[in-house]
Amino acid sequence: MKILAACMLAVGAAIAAYSPGADAQPARIKPGAGDELRAVYATPVEVAEGGGIAEASCARCHGANGVSTTKGVPHLAAQRAAYLDLQLRAYRQSARVQGAMSGIVRYLSDDALVKVAAYYASLDPPRAAAAPAKTAPSRPDPVQAGKAAAAACGACHGELGISKTPGMPSLVGLDPKYFIAAVNAYKSGQRKHDMMKSLVGALNDESLGNMALYYALQKPARAQTPAPGDQAAGKAAAASCAACHGNQGASGNPATPSVAGQDAEYLLAALRAYKDGTRKDDSMKGPAAALDERAMKDIAAFYAAQPPQPLNVRRPLTTAEWTERCDRCHGPNGNSTDPLMPRLSAQRADWLEQVLRTYRTGVRKSTAMAAMTALMSETDAQDVAAHYARQTARAVTYVVVPPPGKKKGGK
Ligand code: HEC
Ligand code: HEC
Ligand code: HEC
Ligand code: HEC
Repeated sequence: MKILAACMLAVGAAIAAYSPGADAQPARIKPGAGDELRAVYATPVEVAEGGGIAEASCARCHGANGVSTTKGVPHLAAQRAAYLDLQLRAYRQSARVQGAMSGIVRYLSDDALVKVAAYYASLDPPRAAAAPAKTAPSRPDPVQAGKAAAAACGACHGELGISKTPGMPSLVGLDPKYFIAAVNAYKSGQRKHDMMKSLVGALNDESLGNMALYYALQKPARAQTPAPGDQAAGKAAAASCAACHGNQGASGNPATPSVAGQDAEYLLAALRAYKDGTRKDDSMKGPAAALDERAMKDIAAFYAAQPPQPLNVRRPLTTAEWTERCDRCHGPNGNSTDPLMPRLSAQRADWLEQVLRTYRTGVRKSTAMAAMTALMSETDAQDVAAHYARQTARAVTYVVVPPPGKKKGGK
């Protein structure tokens, strides 16, 4: 066991050495912050008492020496003391309610929580997970995979999704959500088109998602097809469409397709299909019913001439780009230098993955982590979890000096 009780100088140095990135908002430790850092200053006697509590109440799940051998149960060894204490209190106050913990800490005093937290922090860290025996094939870049999968679609929809054939819709500029919904509607037969049904029937969700992303990230451009009709008249007739499709046909709503720059003949056919009921959609039924053939043609010409807008869709981050962000708060390679910030290095991969999911779904509450995980896919979470499980963990270092200004007989 290591020597206990740190001093404010040690904490201060750790914080000075730690420079978060511009968008990082780590917990600020104020010198003399009091209660929340108590576990950091535990005495050797308190740590020994914490060891007794751990053996009696915690080891059966968290393993001997805080190294868990159970799926879904985190390692506690060498975790940051103040963080452990904070979490134990959160379980006791039912601010955190998952798993088996609330019942276990309910009857432990503040002192007991501080001691057991200090004990676990003082242990040697768990060993990092071994790197995979042979380097796993790196995951294909989703945008490249989407491009490959979309090769066959270009014959009709145009290279880069920009249509050159009258009657064929451009796919560039479509929001991924709409794109995926449209293809699934062909698959299920909800949107009737036998040819599209057979063309997309065999696509799985992953390649569909990749293709949607690929098209969404292409530079938008107008379809290279004729657009006969009276644009000025079309503009006037389209006034009522703007509420959903945007003023110039660039929709801000993923469920409503953008029509700016779309092939005019396709737009006309779509409006006819909504009007005669062959394409069914509650939002479009009314607007289309009100249009005559002339107005449809003019609206199609107007929208086809509008410049399509780039979508608010970003290329997914690589694992290295993700972990670079995580390290800003969780320390270099997940070795936190902030006593209130959890260490991620050498933690169980299954636990990290599970926690990232609970933050994303809001089951576990943390503003910082909800923001970090909002755009994280399951695959991203798996890769990031595997990365941290493989990092070497550093022990918590203690300096034997009592914190300055701590009064005798204080709590
Ligand atoms: C019956 C099994 C069990 C026992 C006994 C148990 N734990 Fe846990 N512990 C868990 C599980 C499962 C989790 C994960 C819960 C979750 O998802 O929040 C957990 C989570 C934790 C966490 C959160 C860690 C983190 O990184 O967020 C801490 C701290 C903790 N336990 C400490 C203790 C201490 C201290 C004791 C003894 C007083 C103890 N546990 C006893 C099963 C147990
Ligand atoms: C043989 C020509 C052809 C090929 C190849 C083709 N499509 Fe289509 N696609 C069409 C036609 C025609 C339509 C319009 C159907 C309709 O009226 O509903 C269409 C419509 C679509 C739409 C709906 C567009 C919108 O604005 O609602 C999507 C999405 C789509 N195709 C995706 C694909 C994908 C993905 C592939 C490749 C796997 C593909 N298509 C291959 C001809 C083709
Ligand atoms: C209440 C919202 C709403 C209004 C108003 C509206 N639309 Fe739509 N529009 C939608 C939605 C939602 C869809 C997608 C429906 C589907 O999946 O078939 C759509 C689809 C379309 C399509 C097919 C695009 C494609 O890529 O396949 C065209 C064309 C269109 N609308 C034109 C119009 C015109 C013209 C008007 C005005 C006369 C109009 N819309 C008014 C919501 C609206
Ligand atoms: C802005 C600072 C910040 C960033 C950036 C950040 N985190 Fe966190 N993280 C926190 C805070 C604060 C907590 C403690 C929240 C709590 O009390 O539940 C936390 C908790 C966690 C936990 C829980 C640890 C455990 O054992 O229960 C995991 C896992 C985690 N973060 C992973 C990540 C990953 C992976 C990233 C990068 C994708 C990341 N974090 C980025 C601040 C951050």
